[in-house]
Amino acid sequence: MMSTPLISVCNLTLRFKTDEGLVTAVDNASFEIAAGEILGLVGESGSGKSVTAKACMRLNAANAVYEPASRITLHLEDGPCDILSLSRQRDLRIVRGGAISMIFQEPMASFAPALTIGAQMVEQLQLHTSMSGPQARALSIEMLNRVGIADASRRIDQYAFEFSGGMRQRAMIAMALSTRPKLLIADEPTTALDVTIQAQVIDLMKDLVNDFGMAILFITHDLGVIAQTADRVAVMYIGRIVETGDVGQVIGQARHPYTQGLLNALPKLDQLDRPLTPIPGDIPSPLERPTGCVFHTRCPQAVAGLCDQATPPLLYLEHGHQVACAALQRPIEGKGKA
Ligand SMILES: Nc1ncnc2c1ncn2[C@@H]1O[C@H](COP(=O)(O)OP(=O)(O)OP(=O)(O)O)[C@@H](O)[C@H]1O
Ligand SMILES: [Mg+2]
Repeated sequence: MMSTPLISVCNLTLRFKTDEGLVTAVDNASFEIAAGEILGLVGESGSGKSVTAKACMRLNAANAVYEPASRITLHLEDGPCDILSLSRQRDLRIVRGGAISMIFQEPMASFAPALTIGAQMVEQLQLHTSMSGPQARALSIEMLNRVGIADASRRIDQYAFEFSGGMRQRAMIAMALSTRPKLLIADEPTTALDVTIQAQVIDLMKDLVNDFGMAILFITHDLGVIAQTADRVAVMYIGRIVETGDVGQVIGQARHPYTQGLLNALPKLDQLDRPLTPIPGDIPSPLERPTGCVFHTRCPQAVAGLCDQATPPLLYLEHGHQVACAALQRPIEGKGKA
């Protein structure tokens, strides 16, 4: 199994206070990422991917309430760092943009409008490294080049509004990678990019994983991108991780009916006339979380009296492949008895 992971998220439960009541966004999620590893986090809209990512940097909104048992530990050379109990802004700044960088789903949010892209990249580098101004500028230009921004030495002096959406996304990726974080959190990093640029950016990330042992939490709803990128995958449905394992296990031998549903909903290029099968039913409102297995209201394999009762835990199938499904875990008659 894995040696000391770079980050371990343990029993993360996160709710938001709203006018309608407490909304559970993440429900007892646990995962680890080792140095040099890419973990893909997949799930439909609203499943809690972004709030899980933001929890790793303590960036959730002020109405977030963490259950006391939730632990997020970053294992750095000089000892473990308990993210959820960091209180001083100074300590959080060391983590944010230093040990951990995040590529946000909303690229506009990550650049200040009144400063040039270059000024912000240089500032970020000088905050977290001992580089001189000219060194930081040279590295920023190089990183912009590497994410496919043509004429980077001129573009670096422009403002975010002068960049197209896809260019802003790439500039954000360049900035996030320039400080060589130990952990990169990439929230839908390639959704806004065309396929050529997407492949280029994924290659760049993989290079940094190989060259510097960077770890990546890669968030997407696109299982195709996950298949090309991740070493391991965690599948999330309204706040719960329902299946996790190596990419080959989760995508090649999906066992949870939700994962199978996501895969069946994907178009296949070699079978374009095959009808797509969307997952039936609607995602329940977070205010009305189903009892028992959260997926049972949409599950074609749900067993009445079983799946609507207790919440199934993640159980091991083999070699790290874990699935939370009571219907799968029902003891098969006679098996295991002498
Ligand atoms: N500040 C907040 N206050 C109340 N609810 C919130 C807040 N932030 C997030 N949520 C809720 O938490 C849940 C999970 O949201 P999240 O943004 O993590 O989903 P996601 O999986 O990233 O979806 P998408 O694929 O659309 O990006 C949603 O129900 C969302 O409405
Ligand atoms: Mg999101």
